[in-house]
Amino acid sequence: MSSTTNSFPAVETRGVVKSFGKGESMVHALKGVDFEARCGEMIMIVGPSGCGKTTLLSVLCGTLKQEAGSVTVFGESLQSMRSSELTAFRGRNIGFVFQQFNLIPTWTALENVSVPLLLAGASRRKAEEAASSLLHKVGIGEKTNTLPSQLSGGQQQRVAIARALVHNPRLIICDEPTAALDAASGRNVLQLLRETALQPERCVVVVTHDSRIFSFADRIAEMEDGRLKALHRPGEYKANYV
Ligand SMILES: Nc1ncnc2c1ncn2[C@@H]1O[C@H](COP(=O)(O)OP(=O)(O)O)[C@@H](O)[C@H]1O
Ligand SMILES: [Mg+2]
Repeated sequence: MSSTTNSFPAVETRGVVKSFGKGESMVHALKGVDFEARCGEMIMIVGPSGCGKTTLLSVLCGTLKQEAGSVTVFGESLQSMRSSELTAFRGRNIGFVFQQFNLIPTWTALENVSVPLLLAGASRRKAEEAASSLLHKVGIGEKTNTLPSQLSGGQQQRVAIARALVHNPRLIICDEPTAALDAASGRNVLQLLRETALQPERCVVVVTHDSRIFSFADRIAEMEDGRLKALHRPGEYKANYV
């Protein structure tokens, strides 16, 4: 496990509040969250379904705006950015991995992984070279010209991880990355994330309620009902929910 005590803060939130809806049907998804993740660490945000994990991720990557509180990513305050600046900041600094992989079904693995670089203005040749190199690194170099439908769930998640890393972001955000996978594929995906995504200048935030993967974390932030309840070392934490 990496030492995180002297490392630079990657993400800091203070007093973040977010609700949805109005009046009687209002849902208080985040009720004042103070969260911190540091460079060089893989931190898991855990807790039962509906406790606010995805909402917190959306706020800390700026796709959702909080009603109160502050969000700082690599020292930059997200609430002070205009929407175009935020989009550019996200494009440069953040890579995403989702539960359902979110690959474009009619594009090959290589084409899917090239997307973030093409969006950043790279030539097709440069983008495909980088994509191919990363597909080899995540262990599916022989699948560059394969469509997602011809890949297993674990292989599709490898493509999604390659796509999340190809533009060399410093913050990797994963929302329930193993929820659609069997136990063995889930462990492989976490192993891969630790080996390829985690570097001293990077931070990997994994939201999950899959207790099978808790042991891969450096730290575990436990949420309950819109609040951060406690911080744990993985060996010391046992979930009391399923
Ligand atoms: N776009 C939305 N509109 C209304 N309610 C929402 C929306 N997104 C999330 N919620 C509600 O906010 C709460 C937290 O949701 P979420 O962050 O998705 O939880 P988790 O990811 O931990 O399962 C839940 O009660 C959910 O129903
Ligand atoms: Mg969620």
